[in-house]
Amino acid sequence: MQFFGEKTMIKVLFVCLGNICRSPMAEFVMKDLVKKEGLQDNFYIESAATSYEECGNPVYPPAVRELSKHGISCAEKRARTMTKDDYKRFDYIIGMEDRNITIIKRIIGADTENKVYKLMHFAGKDEDIADPWYTGDFEGVYKQIAEGCRGLLEMD
Ligand code: 4NP
Repeated sequence: MQFFGEKTMIKVLFVCLGNICRSPMAEFVMKDLVKKEGLQDNFYIESAATSYEECGNPVYPPAVRELSKHGISCAEKRARTMTKDDYKRFDYIIGMEDRNITIIKRIIGADTENKVYKLMHFAGKDEDIADPWYTGDFEGVYKQIAEGCRGLLEMD
């Protein structure tokens, strides 16, 4: 992103179904990336679920382990459900797969300000990030998320 002035603050909300695997992984990968680039004052980053099932729960242990393999902690994270108000609070609402996007749009109404994207869009790919809750492929998910977050950071 090319708008890093003193007053620039980009607010990003990552969203998945449960907020215990993919979106918290994206939240903490992105926080790690911006910190390493010295841009932590230019970003406000959170994650949320489209469902209520996991509300209040910590990140799923295999996702915690995958992040810790890369030196990233997410110990403080607890799942929360996104709200319609999040559309006002954030500049980007970033889902993981088509189904998330459908439900996000159901929650917010219409995406009148073009804030809603799939994460892999920022890697130049029309790709879903499949749910590791079902696939078990946390390493593959990490790779996709790292690529998407890098693309988000570097976009024009
Ligand atoms: P996530 O994975 O959407 O990547 O957090 C899931 C976690 C929990 C459930 C589904 C997906 N669940 O049905 O409880």
